[in-house]
Amino acid sequence: MISKQTIDKIFSTIRVEEIVGEYVQLKRAGSNYKGLSPFHDEKTPSFVVSASKQIWKDFSTGKGGTAISFLMEIENFTYPEALRHAAKKYGIEIEEDQREISEEAKHAQTEKDLLYKIHEVANTYFQEILWDDQEGRSIGLSYFKERELRDDIIKKFQLGYSPEQKNAFTAYALEKGYSKEILEKSGLSIFPENTPAGVDRFRERVIFPIHSFSGRVLGFGARILKSNVKTAKYLNSPETEIYHKSNVLYGLNQSKQAISRKNGCLLVEGYMDVISLHMSGIENVVASSGTSLTTEQIKLIKRLTENVTILFDGDNAGIKASFRSIDMLLTEGMNIRVLLFPDGDDPDSFARKHPQEYVEKYIENEAMDFIDFKAEVLLRDVGNDPIKKAEAIRDIVKSVSFVQNALKREVYLKEVSNKFGLSEQSLFNELDVQKQITQNQTHHVQQQQKEKTAPKLEIVPLDKEKEDPFLFDVLFMENKLVDHMLMFGDVVLKRRDENNEEYQITVIEEILHHFEEEQYTFLVKENEIIINQIKEGIQKDELRSGNFFVSFMDEEITTKVVDALIPLDELENWASRNIYPPNYGDKVADQIKGDVLLHKYRYIDYLIKETAKELDQYSTTDEGKYYELIKKITLLKQASIRLSNMIEYSPIKGIYVDRKR
Ligand code: UTP
Ligand code: MN
Repeated sequence: MISKQTIDKIFSTIRVEEIVGEYVQLKRAGSNYKGLSPFHDEKTPSFVVSASKQIWKDFSTGKGGTAISFLMEIENFTYPEALRHAAKKYGIEIEEDQREISEEAKHAQTEKDLLYKIHEVANTYFQEILWDDQEGRSIGLSYFKERELRDDIIKKFQLGYSPEQKNAFTAYALEKGYSKEILEKSGLSIFPENTPAGVDRFRERVIFPIHSFSGRVLGFGARILKSNVKTAKYLNSPETEIYHKSNVLYGLNQSKQAISRKNGCLLVEGYMDVISLHMSGIENVVASSGTSLTTEQIKLIKRLTENVTILFDGDNAGIKASFRSIDMLLTEGMNIRVLLFPDGDDPDSFARKHPQEYVEKYIENEAMDFIDFKAEVLLRDVGNDPIKKAEAIRDIVKSVSFVQNALKREVYLKEVSNKFGLSEQSLFNELDVQKQITQNQTHHVQQQQKEKTAPKLEIVPLDKEKEDPFLFDVLFMENKLVDHMLMFGDVVLKRRDENNEEYQITVIEEILHHFEEEQYTFLVKENEIIINQIKEGIQKDELRSGNFFVSFMDEEITTKVVDALIPLDELENWASRNIYPPNYGDKVADQIKGDVLLHKYRYIDYLIKETAKELDQYSTTDEGKYYELIKKITLLKQASIRLSNMIEYSPIKGIYVDRKR
């Protein structure tokens, strides 16, 4: 943990115009600076930096904040990562807050630092060998050249080479003063009893460093060059204190900006697939490195986008195994498409054969949604056997049951029903069965996840939402609407009234109006405080949005606001809050409308369920009350149906919209 003093020092030392200036060409404009938005393609500058206030604002996307939040946006750093980065730039020594850290943890901390350091040293070493050493050039570099990699790409991915000599790196590191102990812990060296000089793990192999999200080297993959040797093609670093295979995606560091800019992530299998796609200009790609996808890996992607396209080799091997990945991605709320390359091609060979534009179009046009993909694979060898066909459909419905969002689930089920000409009712029944099964399977996992996120939400009704998905849904949308108010409260929307007259309304007013109309009771204390502040602002003719709250006194509120402005929250859809296509204005307008409807819809469903509970109490005791409640439920149900007919998921925009529009 970085100490409070250090954080204060960082904030008082760094200059927003200097930090931003490294990414954006800034020109003086009065007391401010102006430049082209780095988050959005534009010709006229709409990005402003205020040196006096030490903040920035991007009027094309509505984002804004401090120098630190800028680093978080542009580098996709976490808060501490951004602080450390800034501290390094200004030569500020980081003082760790040791109060809560035990002796043991301190020791672990320094050991971790050493592990990072030794990987940095090794990474530089392998690259130096590749570029400057005779053996490295003639074997390693010429291998990469044979595979048609350009110099800039080899450098971008920091590829290297480990020499033939048994202990080349170990000797080098020992000479530099690194201990045997740390070399062994890093997995880079082995010290067998009768070989005190040690042995390198990687010998005579080309090296692929594996980076963390923020670009630190965590481990290596190393490919053998001789094809006649009977050993694994790739040798990888073992699990260490800093390298946990299941928490890492190859290429994420190099691809993160493109993933968030394009609001989509391509998922491939191998190191070379990532590198080749980058070389042809397609930079939003990561690899699971030959293992099956984990929840942690999906969460890493979800920080950047909810849209994933899985790319497969034409030859069938991994396809059935991919079904599990699909279900996991769906469970995490991701939108998935799947692409099969033609027989004999993998992403690497395909990208080298065709120009960028062709590959992009191919992926765009040929990728299927998971229903079509599973149908194609499963029905391939079913023929006319009705029992096998039913099995296949059941398998597809099972995947649908993993979709977390009720509305999306319905949309997918409709698709299955259309595709196979089956009644929606029978599919719903099947879905219920499957949901029971999957709920039993995933209950445990979900429970863990909710426990992890619960403290952030500060719920008023004691932890009730843990067991109550209805409440959780309402709460999720409540947070989202308040976030919208904070982020683009001052955006002016054009709406039409019942008489089709156009009128203008700010985002703040529109959402506030909705809360008041529903006489909505907030589930989250902070949200209520924020709304009351906004109302007070309106009375004083002030528009209180994000920047007002950033300097608000209450620390919890400030945290919430900063979270909204600079979304850290992995639960939320980063993409839809964070990255806007050129028609940004339209999208906000649509999204606000859709989200207001969705909140209302979920709130009504929650009320129905609560009222039904009450109903049970009165069924035998108070007939009058009982019928009153029945009537209430009926009305609520009618409203719910009306709403569900109004709301539609737009896969193109990635948001819910009002169908009438
Ligand atoms: P591939 O064999 O498809 O690797 O395995 P690749 O990256 O395309 O390599 P080339 O084209 O043959 O040079 C996919 C991934 O599986 C992991 C690696 O991460 C590899 O990138 N793998 C494969 C291993 O870890 N060990 C192995 O022995 C083989
Ligand atoms: Mn390959």
